[in-house]
Amino acid sequence: MSIWYPYKQMQSLGKIPVVKKAKGSMLYFEDGTKAIDAISSWWACIHGYAYKPLNRAIKKQVDSFSHVMLGGLTHQPALRLAEKLVQITPKGLDHVFFSDSGSVAVEVALKMAIQFWSNQGNKDKVKLISCKNGYHGDTFKAMQLGDDSDFTVAFSHVLKKDFVLEIPKNPKDYKKELQNFEELLITHSPTIAALIIEPIIQCAGGFRVHSPDYLDALNRLCVKYNVLTIYDEVATGFGRTGKLFATNHAKCVPDIMVLGKGLTAGYIGHAATIASTKVYQAFLSDEHDKALMHGPTFMGNPLACAVALKSIEIFQKKEYEKKILTIESTILHFFDTIQSEEILDKRVLGAVGIIEVKNEKSIVGLKEFALENKVFIRPIGTMVYLMPSYRIKKKQLLSILETMKKWFEK
Ligand SMILES: Cc1ncc(COP(=O)(O)O)c(C=O)c1O
Repeated sequence: MSIWYPYKQMQSLGKIPVVKKAKGSMLYFEDGTKAIDAISSWWACIHGYAYKPLNRAIKKQVDSFSHVMLGGLTHQPALRLAEKLVQITPKGLDHVFFSDSGSVAVEVALKMAIQFWSNQGNKDKVKLISCKNGYHGDTFKAMQLGDDSDFTVAFSHVLKKDFVLEIPKNPKDYKKELQNFEELLITHSPTIAALIIEPIIQCAGGFRVHSPDYLDALNRLCVKYNVLTIYDEVATGFGRTGKLFATNHAKCVPDIMVLGKGLTAGYIGHAATIASTKVYQAFLSDEHDKALMHGPTFMGNPLACAVALKSIEIFQKKEYEKKILTIESTILHFFDTIQSEEILDKRVLGAVGIIEVKNEKSIVGLKEFALENKVFIRPIGTMVYLMPSYRIKKKQLLSILETMKKWFEK
């Protein structure tokens, strides 16, 4: 096997469909079959595949120049995208650092947070609080912050967590978790640089939802005890939860926000770490050592920036938030009709629908069954999740839901 595929025991890879063409929410395979895509390529292709306005934007940029580094040079696509991101993200996030993937953007956020303190002479604040069921990517430090799971188990003997925050089981009742969090801060905040959290809904690590009030309360405590906040919106950014950013459900603003995936509508890997003025100013100095020493080769890639700018323009012009709320209500209503002893919980938020089963065994074979029914779905552990493109047609969404129902009735 010349390709080493992700998250898969290669010994039992079996046959996997070869995509010949992808358009809208459809995947067309070399063997002549096709499937409706329920997860929009790890929830990145928010406008679906081969969307003409995005294709045009990227082709236009290719004819101008496809890459120029940001080391000692700059260019309009990156300048314009940075300005746009400052404009659309919550007030106070004013400084954009580009990188090429969500994991790297998380690493940059962590470096910013730790160096923020050391630049001010504080070398004690180096620890991080991460969340139970969190996921922040597959690079080493990002793995350390992810919850123990399939993703990190091979390294559990190497990865040592600093502190773990509980996400309340009942989103409305978070008193105990908040109290524990404050106790942790009272004792350990002199050694803690930052809290990293996926706001409102966690994704690959467990798809757990928490309330905007909980997020606000955590933020207030972080401010009180001098701990920075990093909101990882790689999965939730650009509409996934029904608002442009999940943070917009709450009142708080983090010190650092991380965006990826939907930033470029899944066209090219790209990401952004956006810092507040407070964080940025801690790097301004006559001393070179206080600069942020990071610079991915493809940061601010012009093709990525051009497609991101067009994607944001489309998002804003076509009132995508309404489209996402329609997806939400369609999933919500249909989920009510899916009943099975195997189901532990159902959760819906924006264009995310999750059916959590009690035992992983009850969904073995679901992927193959869905493909036979012309649907592409790919559960993670005990979670069957839908995260379609926002331009999915209602008929296509209903086909996906019918297929899930058929599986659970079977
Ligand atoms: C919340 C979150 N953070 C970070 C990442 C890592 O992004 P990437 O796969 O682009 O490195 C992901 C990917 O799924 C994610 O969902």
